[in-house]
Amino acid sequence: MEVANIAGPSLPLLKSYPRYPQQPRDLKKPRSTYVCQNCGAQYAKQQGKCTACLAWNVIVEEITMQAPQPAAPWEAYSYNSEQLAASRAKLLQEISCQTAYRIACPDQELSRALGGGIVPGSLVLIGGEPGIGKSTLLLQLALALPASKVLYVSGEESEAQIKMRADRLQQLATDCYILNETSLHNILQQAAQLKPAILIIDSIQTLYIHPIDSAPGSIAQVRACTAALLRYAKSTNTPVLLTGHITKEGSLAGPKVLEHMVDTVLQFEGDRHTAYRIVRTIKNRFGATAELAIYEMHSHGLREVANPSELFMAQRVDNLSGIAIGAFLEGNRPLLIEAQALVSSATYGTPQRATTGFDSKRLNMLLAVLEKRAGLRLVVQDVFLNIAGGLKVEDPALDLAVCLAIAAALKDCAIPPHCCFAAEVGLGGETRGVSRVEQRIAEAERLGFQQIFIAEHNLKGPVAEEFSINVHPVATVSKAIDHLLMQEIGS
Ligand code: TYD
Ligand code: MG
Repeated sequence: MEVANIAGPSLPLLKSYPRYPQQPRDLKKPRSTYVCQNCGAQYAKQQGKCTACLAWNVIVEEITMQAPQPAAPWEAYSYNSEQLAASRAKLLQEISCQTAYRIACPDQELSRALGGGIVPGSLVLIGGEPGIGKSTLLLQLALALPASKVLYVSGEESEAQIKMRADRLQQLATDCYILNETSLHNILQQAAQLKPAILIIDSIQTLYIHPIDSAPGSIAQVRACTAALLRYAKSTNTPVLLTGHITKEGSLAGPKVLEHMVDTVLQFEGDRHTAYRIVRTIKNRFGATAELAIYEMHSHGLREVANPSELFMAQRVDNLSGIAIGAFLEGNRPLLIEAQALVSSATYGTPQRATTGFDSKRLNMLLAVLEKRAGLRLVVQDVFLNIAGGLKVEDPALDLAVCLAIAAALKDCAIPPHCCFAAEVGLGGETRGVSRVEQRIAEAERLGFQQIFIAEHNLKGPVAEEFSINVHPVATVSKAIDHLLMQEIGS
């Protein structure tokens, strides 16, 4: 019996279909993409709001020439036998590395921020607001590096302006080459000829690379230039130091991709109105993050501050109410700083709380703890808190100092001089242990303090016996207040 062909007419074999429909494309035709200048998201057409980062009016048209694509996707992954041998997977033991070798920086602060010197072949990004001192720091480094050929490329300043700055810095190096150029192609050609030990670029936002058509500083240019510099750094083992602008919100201009591409990100912080400048390590593939370098801006450039605690405490006035000294860690560095509080009767229904250099939510929490657990009447008081010196402190070890400063301001009495604090305060009003308390105690001792108040939990082992300073363990914030301030009020 004949069986009906229920499947219908037989389909042509699949292999007769082209797998990748080959559409003729004009590779020379420029193409427009719409790129968010905030986060780097790409769109096919213009729109007012970036759906990725939710920012408004940040999408800009960028015209790019389409780079020739391989005919089929697998061609991109096909290697010849030589390349295959080079890209062979190796056993971990077979790989030799030169991690021990770093280019020593004469600037000890920068060396610390970089994790002990400049790693050959690394790409370092230094971000910061305009006028904070990025160019000064890098030119100073270029001039001070002993016996190293440095190529300092500036897209922002002319050669004469750089010379004037070098004269101002009063350092004259013999092997420092200056180039005023914005074409990355020309810069890399010069670098190939000169073969510098270090390449410095000021700034990444001024560079452009062919064939990307968008303006220097656009996301596409910044990304492509950084990628080219990364290839240069890795293939020649030359460290490249870049400066980058930051946006008014304080993040590095350009998408996060820039931070992902580089090995190290250093952020320049500080108030332009004060002389202190802080270089903070935000990311470091070759060392610890949260390192800190502190400088002072002088008329002859940036000067390293080796003893920052002494600097922050230099203007201290003893026997002033509402002041307490806290020992906190910034990266691996113990520092002592002054917490200043002012408490005054609230003039409006809702009392004001304002802080500088300290988290305002944490201040509110500490005020609630003082109210509830230590019985201080703060609900009808305006409270102002300032961390002297312009630092922003995130270490919770400053909690006890902040609580004592507020309590002393409320009671209008001074905490005895030569007293400092290093403990976190919990919601129950209890003090909590902090990390590396020995380092904090040692710093307080070095600066001539006679008493330090720490959490009971930290007083394990021989901590107290090791130091000549008196180490007082306290269990709660109210006990610390009673111990220090009740005596003062009574006397
Ligand atoms: P600069 O390095 O040009 O900042 P950036 O590259 O981050 O934009 O810093 C310039 C500021 O520093 C400027 O306000 C002048 C000041 N400065 C000094 O006070 N002393 C100096 O020796 C130098 C070179 C600059
Ligand atoms: Mg500059």
